[in-house]
Amino acid sequence: MLDRYNRRINYLRISVTDRCNLRCRYCMPADGIDWIKHSQILSFEEITEVVKEAVALGIGKVRLTGGEPLVRKGIVNLVKMISDVKGVKDLGMTTNGQVLEEYAADLAKAGLNRVNVSLDTLDAARYAHLSRGGNINNVLKGLEAACEAGLLPIKINCVLTPETTETTKLELRAFCDDNNYKLRFIRQMSLEDGSFSQVEGGEGGNCRICNRLRLTATGDIKPCLFGDDGFNIRELGAANAIQMAVGMKPESGEKNNVNQFYNIGG
Ligand code: 5AD
Ligand code: SF4
Repeated sequence: MLDRYNRRINYLRISVTDRCNLRCRYCMPADGIDWIKHSQILSFEEITEVVKEAVALGIGKVRLTGGEPLVRKGIVNLVKMISDVKGVKDLGMTTNGQVLEEYAADLAKAGLNRVNVSLDTLDAARYAHLSRGGNINNVLKGLEAACEAGLLPIKINCVLTPETTETTKLELRAFCDDNNYKLRFIRQMSLEDGSFSQVEGGEGGNCRICNRLRLTATGDIKPCLFGDDGFNIRELGAANAIQMAVGMKPESGEKNNVNQFYNIGG
């Protein structure tokens, strides 16, 4: 699919849940949020149906996000269902890594190709503070398990906040070089202010080459992270919703007043 600005749309990011086992300060309030009701959340069958229609329209690359995708019950089955769709060439997941050690081997077996792991600092105390209670050792063990399972190449997402120091960045750089992880710095964004910027070491945030659509946990196909538009697959049917979203993809992002990072997955 080409959009109005001649960009080839071949990448679908799927938020499978708004729930998370962390409360990162830049993402969620301390008490969490009013979680979406289960009846509103797409079933695995519905998600797989969207993937099938998306592939038929030219999508080849799929990424599972959240919230935290690994807290969705049965996630390994969903990975299997999606990787079984012919035409899905690259299936990735973005995770905070807290329970990755437990899942890595099964995810790989189910057909997941690779993982991006969020890690904003290597300092255990600072990690716990930033994520409001996360344990950095879980992430480190998860990364090793992902390596062993062959979920490669592994990318590390580091969100830069006003508190991120040069030391933090250098430590992460050395850690990633040592372990062969690809490091990406993501400037902290605000959806409602429309503040976004290019991801250092990645492709996100560069509107000119944007190839993405997003599917929210409640079934909205979003043309742009920084926009209010969404086309619901339950109301419109998957193929229709996808085509409408591609047709409405803006030249560049503005503001999003209807989503948050925890329900659109970044
Ligand atoms: N700004 C930038 N990225 C964010 N994420 C969540 N909240 C924000 C924000 N305010 C992204 C990060 C994290 C992923 C799960 O979501 O990249 O690694
Ligand atoms: Fe959870 Fe990711 Fe949000 Fe942190 S940034 S609270 S890990 S969804």
